[in-house]
Amino acid sequence: MDMEKQKILIVGGSSGMGLALARRCLEEGAHVIIAGRGEAKLDAAREGLGQPGTLETAVVDISREDEVAALFQRIGRLDHIVSTAADIEGAYRLLPEIELSAAQKVVESKFYGPLLLAKHGAPKLPPAGSLTFVSGIAAHRPAARGSVVAAVNAALDGLVRALAVELAPIRVNAVSPGWVDTPIWEFVAGDKKDDTLAAMAKRLPVGRVGKPEDIADAIRFLIGNGFTTGETLHVEGGHRLA
Ligand SMILES: NC(=O)c1ccc[n+]([C@@H]2O[C@H](COP(=O)([O-])OP(=O)(O)OC[C@H]3O[C@@H](n4cnc5c(N)ncnc54)[C@H](OP(=O)(O)O)[C@@H]3O)[C@@H](O)[C@H]2O)c1
Repeated sequence: MDMEKQKILIVGGSSGMGLALARRCLEEGAHVIIAGRGEAKLDAAREGLGQPGTLETAVVDISREDEVAALFQRIGRLDHIVSTAADIEGAYRLLPEIELSAAQKVVESKFYGPLLLAKHGAPKLPPAGSLTFVSGIAAHRPAARGSVVAAVNAALDGLVRALAVELAPIRVNAVSPGWVDTPIWEFVAGDKKDDTLAAMAKRLPVGRVGKPEDIADAIRFLIGNGFTTGETLHVEGGHRLA
């Protein structure tokens, strides 16, 4: 695939895996739009990424259908849609402590968001276009406090398979990451982040936790490989075996 001809929307591109993917796609010459809810976060990411000629930002909350529809009206032509968005604040709790509002934000950002991106974005894509979403290891190795995220990740993997059939020949895939050192860990482990990730690194067959670039690499593969659809690609350092 000639990346210099591709226009790629990355929702979640202001942080973590999405930001690493934006950097990778820009390096390869693609036209990139990074999107998220926080304008200041997007501006900081744009400054860090440079390349103003081929980089745009867009403020959008993908849990809101009106905002998603308006975004695609503004963007016009597009080749690929990626979402790494997740709002998990307050969701990693034991059942008695879970607030329904926190659980709903996980569902809205990781399930309804991708559904709305597919609904309003797929009509903008060419036949060779793709959608790529991000589920996660919690669906396969669930742990206490992670029930909501586990369930939503599993639902997203199912959604991807169904959309791959309905939207064909547009390809629809997911990456399921293991534990990756990104800002999201402030919500999962707070000040125990470093110790928690170090303990996991010892447990994993690869001897380390993931870097955002590991996941960006996998998403880049799914964008570019025209024979892969309906797939969940596990990029988790052997976590399911450990
Ligand atoms: N890091 C890990 O260890 C890990 C493991 C397994 C799975 N995952 C999954 O991997 C994906 C990426 O995670 P990450 O670690 O890169 O997270 P991150 O650094 O927290 O980035 C999340 C991004 O999503 C955006 N976002 C959140 N809610 C949104 C919404 N409703 N609409 C639009 N944008 C929204 C955020 O920007 P704003 O807040 O400004 O909107 C931010 O840019 C997530 O789906 C996560 O669940 C992560």
